[in-house]
Amino acid sequence: MLEKDILKVLVTREEIKQIAKKLGKQLAEDYKDKFPLVVGILKGCVPFMGELVSEMDIHLEMGFMDVSSYHGGIESSGDVKISKDLGLSVQDRHIIIAEDIVDTGRTIKTIKELLLFRGASSVVTATMLDKPEGRVVDFHPEYIGTTIPKEFVVGFGLDYDEKYRNLPYVGVLKPEVYNK
Ligand code: PRP
Repeated sequence: MLEKDILKVLVTREEIKQIAKKLGKQLAEDYKDKFPLVVGILKGCVPFMGELVSEMDIHLEMGFMDVSSYHGGIESSGDVKISKDLGLSVQDRHIIIAEDIVDTGRTIKTIKELLLFRGASSVVTATMLDKPEGRVVDFHPEYIGTTIPKEFVVGFGLDYDEKYRNLPYVGVLKPEVYNK
């Protein structure tokens, strides 16, 4: 049913599994004995973060923040709003931010600066997708699943108008869907 709206698949379910496995293994190696706090940025992080932490065979804590900048369209508004805060102290903690995508970089840069300001010992970003051509601020995620071109993508957490997050892969929407 959802597939009929997809022009092409960019990252398959199998590739996503491999990405989670590779990054998860690397993070587990880099963070063993550090009891990291993995912070998911809602809502897009949910499917990928689930897979990522299940590939990290170390003790870790999970937390979530709800941050939004799109407000329903396909362009970032540039206005980053925190609608749900973490609700726990980050003082002296090693933080891994789990993201579905880094596009303009505004969301992640804002959150990283905030967590460091609050006293985190370190903050890195693990993102399923990186879209470097979309960048408007200087930001380089430390852990990148795969790099994608400057196209509007949906699926595996990424939405258009709150829909398509539940697609089991990442794809490009047919233009008629958002030109309607
Ligand atoms: C998306 C995505 C990232 C952010 C990336 O979230 O999940 O958090 O945008 O874009 P940026 O690099 O241009 O800031 P969104 O604000 O759409 O909220 P959502 O996860 O609830 O869809």
